[in-house]
Amino acid sequence: MERLSLDVNGCFDRAAGGLQRAELDASAPAARGAWEALEGRRRAGEVGFADLPRDRAGAGAVLKVARALAERFENLLVLGIGGSSLGGRALVGALAHPLHNLLPRERRGALRVFFPDNSDPATFEALLGSLDLAETCFATVSKSGATVETLAQHLTLRERCLARFGETGYRERCVVVTDPAAGPLGRIADEERLRSLPLPPAVGGRFGALTAAGLLPAACAGADVTALLDGAASLEARCRTGDLRVNPALLYAATLHLLDVRRGRRVDVFMPYADGLRDLGDWFVQLWAESLGKSAASGPLPFRAVGATDQHSSLQLLMEGPDDKVVTLVRVGRPRADLSIQVPPGYRRFPEVAFLDGHTFGELIEAERLATEAALRAAGKPTVSIALPRLDARAMGELIMLLELSAAYAGGLYGVDAFDQPGVEVGKRYAQATLGRPGREAERDELRSRPQPDPSLLLA
Ligand code: PA5
Repeated sequence: MERLSLDVNGCFDRAAGGLQRAELDASAPAARGAWEALEGRRRAGEVGFADLPRDRAGAGAVLKVARALAERFENLLVLGIGGSSLGGRALVGALAHPLHNLLPRERRGALRVFFPDNSDPATFEALLGSLDLAETCFATVSKSGATVETLAQHLTLRERCLARFGETGYRERCVVVTDPAAGPLGRIADEERLRSLPLPPAVGGRFGALTAAGLLPAACAGADVTALLDGAASLEARCRTGDLRVNPALLYAATLHLLDVRRGRRVDVFMPYADGLRDLGDWFVQLWAESLGKSAASGPLPFRAVGATDQHSSLQLLMEGPDDKVVTLVRVGRPRADLSIQVPPGYRRFPEVAFLDGHTFGELIEAERLATEAALRAAGKPTVSIALPRLDARAMGELIMLLELSAAYAGGLYGVDAFDQPGVEVGKRYAQATLGRPGREAERDELRSRPQPDPSLLLA
């Protein structure tokens, strides 16, 4: 069976000051150590994301809820932020029709799925104002069950549903996805007898794309959840060794880590050549930033680009700007649809146009990817190539598992815990303090005791 491939040759171009194979060999023991550390935490039950593809009972429960919602409703709102939104959005973006939400029901055959994500009132109100609430259900997704942005959206939907449809109508429309033991949302779901799906305690938000947080929106949009988990399981099986010449996620993590600490390449650019992977770029940024940005010495900066669009934008910076980047190009072997380009006889006198005749858009985007890779390598910039046979559920499962495992191994190589996010928690506490949550008095006093701004530095 065709499968994902990873090629790091573009990081070992001698002439261009790339890594040497001896450096990679010398880092093998550290890579093995990072692999063993993750395996140890998996065995201890502390880290659970890599075992999710085997949880078919959990996936079955998600599919049952998705089917029930699809029978009754037209729209699903996914209320969540960060890891409770980005994984699902990446899956829907890659696996649903590119114009899924615009298609009529008979063509899309599934629910329309929306991810309001941010608490910007203008967007949220616009979205609620444009959907028929009678046809809309919502999933409130929060691992901690206490994230204020998500709670605010949940409260709004709850109030509107209760006012229009009463308690039964609210219960019919709401699904809670949370760690039942973590925060108030689990208790609310119990007390209000809401339908709920559990988030496993050992899987943190950004590693939760294959929990109900990601699977529910994906299933509601019609994605093949079984193939997704099969793909993730097959990639995980390839990573059951601490040998970086065999384990693709370990090779990827070790190469990027070496390029950072040995060559000062601290910017990791993720550049898929497929619109369907745009949202995965946002997910990658969160995965990398929140997992690895933990100390002055650990914090490769993730940067998201999309080919060929960014060839007319950030590529200039990647080619000639500061020499501190590694570019991962993602290739999709066979596009889901293709178009041929026909040049009419009257245009053939223009050599800049004529040569396009008979080519396809698939060939065009592949030529663009090849050209970018060649240009970057010619300019001495390291590149990684990830190739997917096609953009389908199986390949998405492989890609997600590859990147999640890489983030976990990279955490080990940098010597940081990839699974916490103390910096994010500080911001959450300040926001709660500003809004008056009890127990946040210390943060509130700290915010109040900030020095007055210097008026000469504030031009109003
Ligand atoms: O990856 C993470 O842990 C965070 O980005 C969370 O997903 C985000 O802060 C939302 O938290 P929660 O799922 O608890 O609402």
